[in-house]
Amino acid sequence: MITTTDIKIHKTNKSRIAEYDINNVPFGKCFSDHMFVAEYANGKWERSYIEPYQNVPMSYATSALHYGQAIFEGMKAYKNDNGEVAIFRPYENLNRLNKSAIRMAMPEVPEEIFMGGLIELLKLDAAWVPSSETGSLYIRPFIIATDEAIGVKSSDTYKFIIITCPAGKYYSEPIKVLVETKYFRAVHGGVGFVKAAGNYGRSLYPTKLAQQRGYQQVIWTDSKTNQYVEESGTMNLMFVIGETLLTPELSDTILSGITRKSVLQLAKHWGMKIEERKISIREILTAQGNGNLKEAFGVGTAATIAQIISIGCDGKDYELPPVNSRVFSNKIDETLRNIRKGKIKDEFDWMYKV
Ligand code: COI
Repeated sequence: MITTTDIKIHKTNKSRIAEYDINNVPFGKCFSDHMFVAEYANGKWERSYIEPYQNVPMSYATSALHYGQAIFEGMKAYKNDNGEVAIFRPYENLNRLNKSAIRMAMPEVPEEIFMGGLIELLKLDAAWVPSSETGSLYIRPFIIATDEAIGVKSSDTYKFIIITCPAGKYYSEPIKVLVETKYFRAVHGGVGFVKAAGNYGRSLYPTKLAQQRGYQQVIWTDSKTNQYVEESGTMNLMFVIGETLLTPELSDTILSGITRKSVLQLAKHWGMKIEERKISIREILTAQGNGNLKEAFGVGTAATIAQIISIGCDGKDYELPPVNSRVFSNKIDETLRNIRKGKIKDEFDWMYKV
C-alpha cells in the first residue's frame, strides 16, 4: 500500500503562475504547476508521484481512448482572507469516484492515495488558488485505462491523475435551456449515475443543436417516457414552486451531485419544504403558467448555482422570474460562498483544510 511518504515529488524549477491573472482566467484552460499521478499495475497501485504539469507520451492504442474506460471527478479548493486553503467535501468525491470505478470495471483508489496526493499537490500549488470572491481552484481527479491494446476488455493498467486549474464563474450569465426529448443523457441500467467520460461525450451533439437555436444548455428528460426532467447540461436541476424546493429524485440515470446534496442539506436546515421526486415537464410549465414557478436553477461543482432564465419546450419559450427576485437560490449561493471562503461558520464540517 502506498502512503503519502511514498509520493515522489519532483518540483518545477520555474513556476508559470506569473504568466496568468489567476483571478481572471477562462474555465479549464490554464493549469497549475504540478500534477499528481498514481500508477496501477499487477493488481495494485504501485507508485505515485508529483511532477511538473506536462504532456506525456502515450500510445494511440491506449484503451481509454477507444472504449471510454475513463472516469473523473470535479471538486474545488478555496482560499480564505487569511490565505488558508480548504477543499469542499473531498471525501464525497472520493466515494463517488470509487462508485464510478466499480461501475466501469476499474480499480478503486484508496483514501491514502486520493487524499494524500490531493493534499501534497495543493500544498505545492497553494499559490494557484484564487483569492477573489467567486474564484476557486478547480480540481480534476480522473482515472484512465492505460493498456496498449485494442481488444475490448477491461484494462490491466490504469493511471489516477489529479490536475488543477484556477477558475472563476462557469456561466457568466443566467442560462436559457431547451427541453430535450429526442436524445437522452442516460438510460436505466446505464452509467448516468456515475461520472463516466462517455456521459459527457454523448451530450455534446444535442447540446450543439440546442446552442444553434440560441439556448446554452438542454434539460435532459427520462428515456422511457420523455416526460420527466432529469438534469440540465452537466448539472442537477432544482425548482422552487410556491414555497417548496423540488429536485428529481436520484436514480441510476441521475448523478448524485455533491452540490445537490449540500443545497438539500442547507434547505432542510433552514426548514424549507423539500420534495425529491419525479417532476414532469408539464408540472413545471403549468407552474410557470400560473405564476407558481419562482425559481429554476442548475447545481454542480463547476457552475455552483446556474440560474435558468427561460425554458424552451415544443417551440415556445417560457420565461422565469428575474434572478434578483429569487430568494432561495440567491441565499444558497451566498451561503455556500461564505462557507467556502471561511466567512461564516462551517456548521456541517464541509471544508477540509490543507
Ligand atoms: C463539474 O461540475 O465538476 C462537472 O463535472 C461539470 C463539467 C465541468 C464537466
